[in-house]
Amino acid sequence: MSAQTGKIAIVTGANTGIGYEIALALYRAGAHVIMACRDLAKAEEATQRMKQEGGAGTLEGALIDLSRLDSVRSFAHLLLERYENLDLLINNAGIMVPPAGKTVDGFELQFGINFLGHFALTGHLLPLLSKTNGARVVTLSSGAHHLVNGIDYENLRLEKPYDAQREYAVSKLANILFSIELQRRIEQTGMSLISNAAHPGVTDSNLSRYMPADVYETAVKQFNGLMPTWQGALPALYAATSPAAQGGLYYGPDGEDGLHGYPAEAQVSSAAADEAEAAKLWRYAETATGVSYSF
Ligand SMILES: NC(=O)c1ccc[n+]([C@@H]2O[C@H](COP(=O)([O-])OP(=O)(O)OC[C@H]3O[C@@H](n4cnc5c(N)ncnc54)[C@H](OP(=O)(O)O)[C@@H]3O)[C@@H](O)[C@H]2O)c1
Repeated sequence: MSAQTGKIAIVTGANTGIGYEIALALYRAGAHVIMACRDLAKAEEATQRMKQEGGAGTLEGALIDLSRLDSVRSFAHLLLERYENLDLLINNAGIMVPPAGKTVDGFELQFGINFLGHFALTGHLLPLLSKTNGARVVTLSSGAHHLVNGIDYENLRLEKPYDAQREYAVSKLANILFSIELQRRIEQTGMSLISNAAHPGVTDSNLSRYMPADVYETAVKQFNGLMPTWQGALPALYAATSPAAQGGLYYGPDGEDGLHGYPAEAQVSSAAADEAEAAKLWRYAETATGVSYSF
């Protein structure tokens, strides 16, 4: 990775898993990394571990709970007060197949945390991003986005019987629709900001915390094993820092199965490329979060 000296980066969910490795790599490369976590003690513990590993940059822990839009707003306001620029926003935090539940604002947990929280965060931080030459927003999605054909707007507040995997897939489809739509809107303004998306293939992290052990073990076998977190972090790091990475694209592992390997452009589903769906989701998210993007 090229030197990131002087850059300011936010990584959500930086205390563990892929977010930890993204933050560590940026710190090693000289960036000031804001570790945006829902538990400050965990952020501090991760910061100490990173410092022991050593890096050319600096680290700062900050509280954000993506399941509460008031927490997202408070985090962003702190950043807007303290900083003049923001080079990298890595929308990484996420949960997968938790027991049925809703965010504080009444949305299905995965849709609320994985998508709406990051939609609101990016919108709040747009004034900083748009002032920073060459800033990038990278949003983590998943191969699971291929599992659904669209967003069911009648089920985003858990109106229908809960299907944990389907709701995860919907949240990850929303992540890509958002990432591509953000790029479209940026292009209409002439800003130098870019928005792209990445997925880590299959990576050994805490994401499986809600999966029963036997289901998890079967899945690992089906996938022919998982990659370590440092490798799962590479597509997002490529999207965030490579001069070759472009706005509006999606990056993931280059293996034949698309689940293992090193960063390359990945294919989005036809549902994720649907411009009308992206525009509809954007309108829905602005109303749901109360955050309007002012380009
Ligand atoms: N691992 C894979 O194979 C895989 C595959 C496809 C996509 N992904 C995507 O990659 C991203 C990172 O996942 P991971 O594998 O690194 O999972 P992970 O190890 O479980 O890490 C998830 C991170 O998100 C944080 N988080 C969860 N809920 C939050 C909330 N309400 N507010 C703020 N932070 C919250 C977690 O905090 P706590 O530690 O406090 O819970 C943790 O830091 C996710 O977006 C996931 O969907 C992963």
